Amino acid sequence: MATPLLAIENLSAGYKGLNVLAGLSLEVGAGEFIAVVGPNGHGKTTLLKTVSGLLSATGGSITLAGLDLTRRRADQIVAAGVVHVPQGDLLFPDMTVRENLLMGAYLPDAAAQAGVRLEEVFQLLPKLRERQGQVASTLSGGERRMTGIGRGLMSGGKVLMLDEPSLGLAPLMVQKTAEIIREIHRGGTTVLLVEQNLHLALRMADRGYVMEIGSIVLSGASGDLLGNEHVKKAYLGG
Ligand SMILES: Nc1ncnc2c1ncn2[C@@H]1O[C@H](COP(=O)(O)OP(=O)(O)OP(=O)(O)O)[C@@H](O)[C@H]1O
Ligand SMILES: [Mg+2]
Repeated sequence: MATPLLAIENLSAGYKGLNVLAGLSLEVGAGEFIAVVGPNGHGKTTLLKTVSGLLSATGGSITLAGLDLTRRRADQIVAAGVVHVPQGDLLFPDMTVRENLLMGAYLPDAAAQAGVRLEEVFQLLPKLRERQGQVASTLSGGERRMTGIGRGLMSGGKVLMLDEPSLGLAPLMVQKTAEIIREIHRGGTTVLLVEQNLHLALRMADRGYVMEIGSIVLSGASGDLLGNEHVKKAYLGG
């Protein structure tokens, strides 16, 4: 891989009295689809929060296309092109689908493009066009997930980070969501996907990283990881 688009080096971060990320390193090349997989509570969300500036790194570095983003403000990180679609959607419940989508385009550059982007989001996710006037609290789980992803696309970033997009969805909806994420990637967006569902994530991604207790224990091409003995024993039921 040439110069990575997103480079995370020796990153440490955590919460008051609890260090979670313990010197984690990974790279995402421009146009790649990368999965970070690992069990519950091992720091996947903490990783994305630290990259997007919601949590402050206590060590290491995060760079995007050579630009140092470590300890920048969250809005500066969004402006640089890093998009974070959070675990659990975190929509504004009393706002409509359309209003929630527009919240993704709050920065000046994105606001100038909001009309065009909204149309792109509606093309990709036609259900959201139908539901655009409906308040978020009345959406189905699948519709909420789509709105969260659509809101991320509204900021027009270079890297789309998705935290557990399959979580809590019915199997059919999981497959549909996976297909939509693949389509976003085929359209040229670089994707960093964080998932507990190792099998699903590695079937989608080009390469993957296995994260345990706050650091990377294995990495490689998705096919190689799916055939790896540790992965088979620990994650795929032998
Ligand atoms: N706001 C917080 N304050 C204190 N500890 C936290 C906070 N958020 C997470 N933690 C702890 O940090 C560790 C890592 O949590 P994190 O949410 O990053 O894991 P995860 O891999 O995303 O898990 P899951 O698969 O359940 O989403 C856990 O031990 C968790 O209890
Ligand atoms: Mg999580």
